[in-house]
Amino acid sequence: MKSLVTGAAGFIGSHLCEYLIEKGFEVVGIDNFMDYYPRSIKEASIADLRKHQNFEFVEASLVQVDLTKLLDGVDVVFHQAAQAGVRASWGQNFKIYSDNNIVATQMLLEACRERPVNKFVYASSSSVYGDTRDLPMRESSLPCPVSPYGVSKLAAEHLCFLYCKNFGIPAVSLRYFTVYGARQRPDMAFHRFFTWALQDKPLKVYGDGEQSRDFTHVDDIVEANWLALEKALPGEVFNIGGGSRITLNGVIEIIKEIAGRELEIDYQAKQKGDVRHTMADMTKAKEKLGYKPKVLIQEGLLTEYEWIRDLVEWSSS
Ligand SMILES: NC(=O)c1ccc[n+]([C@@H]2O[C@H](COP(=O)([O-])OP(=O)(O)OC[C@H]3O[C@@H](n4cnc5c(N)ncnc54)[C@H](O)[C@@H]3O)[C@@H](O)[C@H]2O)c1
Repeated sequence: MKSLVTGAAGFIGSHLCEYLIEKGFEVVGIDNFMDYYPRSIKEASIADLRKHQNFEFVEASLVQVDLTKLLDGVDVVFHQAAQAGVRASWGQNFKIYSDNNIVATQMLLEACRERPVNKFVYASSSSVYGDTRDLPMRESSLPCPVSPYGVSKLAAEHLCFLYCKNFGIPAVSLRYFTVYGARQRPDMAFHRFFTWALQDKPLKVYGDGEQSRDFTHVDDIVEANWLALEKALPGEVFNIGGGSRITLNGVIEIIKEIAGRELEIDYQAKQKGDVRHTMADMTKAKEKLGYKPKVLIQEGLLTEYEWIRDLVEWSSS
């Protein structure tokens, strides 16, 4: 089996490539090293992959590359590439989001008409739900994103659905709930908290810290992609959560235990586009995919801490 992983040098994409290689797949990874965070972090994430004979890396943007050629011989697409991040998606930046999240997805789906694949797994987001009080969030609820990022992820999800309905592209969308673990993006809360804790700086928290998230470890996300490949029916949408819903203040208590000391917290104004709570109803993923998150938050946070400790040491050396 040959798979295409888009966003291969990113946080989730690089883990997914490693998993697929271990499963004996040939993997073509594409990434254009968007400058949202340092290229050096992404290069480090794929350094071992690049040495593997079953891994081919293409440095290019999905909106510029010859997609028909890229899809040559590919059986499965895992579409992880996107401009991520809720807070940066306002204003003029929206063009970056629409180009890389919406247009790129449409072009890739269109190319799959020429070069059919067995499965197209799209990395959607819990951001499509918006700020609902109707918890847990169910796939059957009407999505109502409250950030331009969420709108772009939902638009691409709709594109997956309509290319499935009209042209039989076997697309499946997985709505990831806040993903964490080693290689987490530097703009994400745990990455920032651990870095500040290691640098002896106060932890900046947007809002009162009582907002909660259904944090999902990257290993569980990767597993869900595999299950989607094996079991999901075309056109389906699934919530993929971690089953570890916790407030940011709760996370900080665990971080204090890991750091082994008290930490200073600097509470700041809530950011536009941030939702108050997320919580996945995973009944559908459980029943139809056999998905069950395995990594507990305490355990997952420790793996991320160890990775960030190495990163902080490496950056200061
Ligand atoms: N991390 C999370 O908590 C989370 C939650 C929900 C959904 N998602 C989705 O999961 C996917 C992966 O997110 P991540 O956190 O790993 O982000 P990331 O930024 O680490 O990875 C995305 C990668 O895609 C690449 N990319 C962007 N546009 C591209 C293009 N046009 N052509 C080629 N490469 C391109 C970037 O350079 C980047 O390396 C994204 O689709 C994101 O929307 C992530």
